[in-house]
Amino acid sequence: MELENLRQECLNCRRCGLCDTRTNVVFGQGVPTAEVMFVGEGPGASEDEQGLPFVGRSGQLLDHYLEAVDLSRDTNVYIANIVKCRPPQNRDPLPEESTACMPWLRQQFQLIRPKIVVCLGRIAAQQMMGPTFSVSRDHGKFFEKQGTLFMATYHPAALLRYPVNKPAVFGDFVALREKITQVCDHTY
Ligand code: URA
Repeated sequence: MELENLRQECLNCRRCGLCDTRTNVVFGQGVPTAEVMFVGEGPGASEDEQGLPFVGRSGQLLDHYLEAVDLSRDTNVYIANIVKCRPPQNRDPLPEESTACMPWLRQQFQLIRPKIVVCLGRIAAQQMMGPTFSVSRDHGKFFEKQGTLFMATYHPAALLRYPVNKPAVFGDFVALREKITQVCDHTY
């Protein structure tokens, strides 16, 4: 199975109620062989319109952070979400929506085989690292799980509302860059 085949399957998904209100499935974007993968919460209005992750205002901010440490969705990272369809009014995904959607992310993960996963915000962090994970307490720290390193940082949309955390997120991206130097291919 290739990532493109999985994407085609996912585009027809009707595993939860979000399929009734979506414009587009937002499967993911980036390099299929990336060693670094970012996981957000779910599409917003711009993502739903374009079918691509993090293309609205928070996506522009994410791209700035990526560029600051020589990363980009065009060359060396992959970006996906916990849920692939927009929750109405940008509400948090319901537990049953996340549960229904997670097999898609697991399959993406098995095909891409990233060495490092960066969770953007609480919803992604708790889904990937457990329900007691606290982004304010544990952002920027790396946790090993079955041979993969996981780290979380604040969600870029939260930074737009609360810019005081921007320096902390910059620090997390610098820590990510250091970790990449240790564990990823030298071309990174
Ligand atoms: N917020 C997310 O969590 N994911 C996106 O793709 C866009 C905004």
